Amino acid sequence: MTEPRRILITGASGGFGMEFARQLALPGHTLLLHGRDEARLQQLRESLPEPHRHRCIRAELSHPQGVQTLLEAVADTPLYGLVNNAGFGLWGKFEQVDIAEQLNMLRTDLEAPMALTHALLPQLKAQHGFIINVSSLAGEYPLPWMSGYAAAKAGLSYWSEALRTELADTLRIVTLAPGPSPTGFRRISGMPHATGNFFRTPATLVVRQALQCLQHGGGYCVPGWRHRLLWLMQKTVPRRFGLAIMAGQMQRGS
Ligand SMILES: NC(=O)c1ccc[n+]([C@@H]2O[C@H](COP(=O)([O-])OP(=O)(O)OC[C@H]3O[C@@H](n4cnc5c(N)ncnc54)[C@H](OP(=O)(O)O)[C@@H]3O)[C@@H](O)[C@H]2O)c1
Repeated sequence: MTEPRRILITGASGGFGMEFARQLALPGHTLLLHGRDEARLQQLRESLPEPHRHRCIRAELSHPQGVQTLLEAVADTPLYGLVNNAGFGLWGKFEQVDIAEQLNMLRTDLEAPMALTHALLPQLKAQHGFIINVSSLAGEYPLPWMSGYAAAKAGLSYWSEALRTELADTLRIVTLAPGPSPTGFRRISGMPHATGNFFRTPATLVVRQALQCLQHGGGYCVPGWRHRLLWLMQKTVPRRFGLAIMAGQMQRGS
C-alpha cells in the first residue's frame, strides 16, 4: 500500500489494535483510531508519524447505539480498510458469570463487527480495500471456563471465512486467529495468570503476520509457530482428551 488510505481500527487503545495502528501508520495514511479510553487513544495518536492525520473516536461497542455512534463518526470518510479488532473475554464457569456481561461480550465480539462490516461494505468494495477480522484460536475449539468467548469467536471466524469466499473477487479479507498474546486481554478477562504461557506470542509478530497475509491477498492467518502448534494440537488431539487438557489449563493456569 503506497497511496494515501483511510483505515478504521476498532480497539486501537489496546494491545493488537495499538500494534495495527503502529504498523499501518504509513506515510499519507489516515487512521481512525477507535476505543473507549480517550487518554490512551490520544497518546497513541501523538506517538504516530504525522499525528495530525489521525483521528480518535470513542464508542461503546457492546450496545447498538455505540456502533451507530462509530458509524456516524466515520460517515464523512470513504474507508479503504476496516480492522475489526475490539473485543474482550470473560473467564469463569458459564453458570457463574453474569449473563448480562456475557451478552455484552457477544455483542462486542460478534454483532459489532458484523454490523460495522455490513454498513461499510459498499465503500470498502468501491475502493477494492480490505477487512481484517481479529478472531481467535478460541474460535476453533470449545473452551471450558470461557465458553461464551469461544462461542463468540467461533461465530466470528465462521462468518469471516464465509464472507471472504463471497467477496473473493472484490475485497481482501483476513481472518486472524491468534492464540495467547501479552496484551490487556488476560487481565480484563480475569484469566488465571499462567494460562497458556508457553504459547504466548508478541503482538508485533501477530500483527506483522496478519499484514503479510493481507499483502498476499488475504486468508485465514494463524500467526507464529507457537500458535500454529496449538492449532495443530486442536486439530489432531481427540476431542475428549483435548477438552480435558483445556479444562485443566483454563481452571488452574499452567
Ligand atoms: N491477547 C490475546 O491473547 C488474544 C488472543 C486471541 C484473540 N484476541 C482478540 O484480540 C482482540 C484485541 O484484544 P487485545 O488482546 O489487544 O486486548 P486488549 O489489550 O484488552 O484490547 C482490547 C481493545 O478492545 C477495546 N474494547 C473492549 N471492549 C470494548 C467495548 N465493549 N466497546 C468498545 N471497545 C472495546 C478496548 O478498548 P478500551 O481499552 O479503550 O476500553 C481495547 O482497545 C480482541 O478481539 C481479542 O478477543 C486476543
